[in-house]
Amino acid sequence: MTEAVKTQTQACNLELAAATYWWCACSRCKTQPFCDDSHKGTDFTPADLVIEDKQPVWICGCRRSGDNPMCNDTHNELA
Ligand code: FES
Repeated sequence: MTEAVKTQTQACNLELAAATYWWCACSRCKTQPFCDDSHKGTDFTPADLVIEDKQPVWICGCRRSGDNPMCNDTHNELA
């Protein structure tokens, strides 16, 4: 599988309303950090993020988290 391009070195801190969101895994989407179907034709699959109550979240922007779509601080280890 092709590795996603690291488009950011930080997490996206967002306040999300209750809904299901799709996190961009391919890093090609123009609607970062969310999917706009730009992964079609690639090996990437967006990850779902289900928010049941409005809350702040830290979404991975570096594409290296082992807990996608959430930031797990792996970005701190990147050069
Ligand atoms: S932004 Fe990717 S692990 Fe934090």
